[in-house]
Amino acid sequence: MSAASASTLRASDGGAGLPRHVAIIMDGNGRWAKARHLPRVAGHRKGAEAVRATIRAARELGIEVLTLYAFSSENWRRPEEEVSDLKGLLRHYLLGEIEELAANGVRLRVIGEYRRFGPELARLLDDAIERTVGNRAMTLVIALNYGAQDEIVRAARALAEDALAGRIDPAAIDAETLDARLDTRELPPPDLLIRTSGERRLSNFLLWQAAYAELLFVDTLWPDFGREALFAAVADYGRRERRFGGL
Ligand code: FPP
Repeated sequence: MSAASASTLRASDGGAGLPRHVAIIMDGNGRWAKARHLPRVAGHRKGAEAVRATIRAARELGIEVLTLYAFSSENWRRPEEEVSDLKGLLRHYLLGEIEELAANGVRLRVIGEYRRFGPELARLLDDAIERTVGNRAMTLVIALNYGAQDEIVRAARALAEDALAGRIDPAAIDAETLDARLDTRELPPPDLLIRTSGERRLSNFLLWQAAYAELLFVDTLWPDFGREALFAAVADYGRRERRFGGL
């Protein structure tokens, strides 16, 4: 799609217009590899290429925040070899992409308990976050060892500690107070949540934040996702009418 098409997508015609925040459950790497008689890691590698293409396309569209579900708190149940392959890919990706991200004004944030990936990866992530903190073109949020229920529990615990210490009045706790304790604090909520590979589940992803998100389930396997698929998803979103509980 041409740059002209990107501006067409941006122009609102009474529909929802351009989403500020797109969140994606990247699913189907394993099936992509299986269909080609390749090891699962080959699907993840191709998935990392799809990540690159999708980030570029999101920047081209002018999306403010792109959140990618790279590793769930349940993914530790996978064989050790696959977990190690995913960690290796992430490390490789960060080392290879941080220059381009930084040069293109992308700010990196991570949600989830990423320190469980060990000190080396945590340091790489901390450095990348620190280095890009002032960037404004787009925020890339990577969900790592992320689970929405765990995130909400951690936020509730922080509120309970604040209440016990007398820093907050329990009667004053509202949605905003809890929101400010989530890993996503200060980010706008996702407008469009996409899941690839034909599965129709949220799988513990952004359960609080996606309260009013438009959901889009596409059959494309994640390694086949990219610019064209993101443009199509954003066009679909643009035709929707959002009511946020009103009429
Ligand atoms: C789901 O496919 C995908 C994942 C669990 C991992 C996502 C990781 C990447 C796209 C690569 C690295 C990420 C970054 C940010 C560089 P699946 O394995 O569950 O596929 P299946 O359901 O077909 O088995």
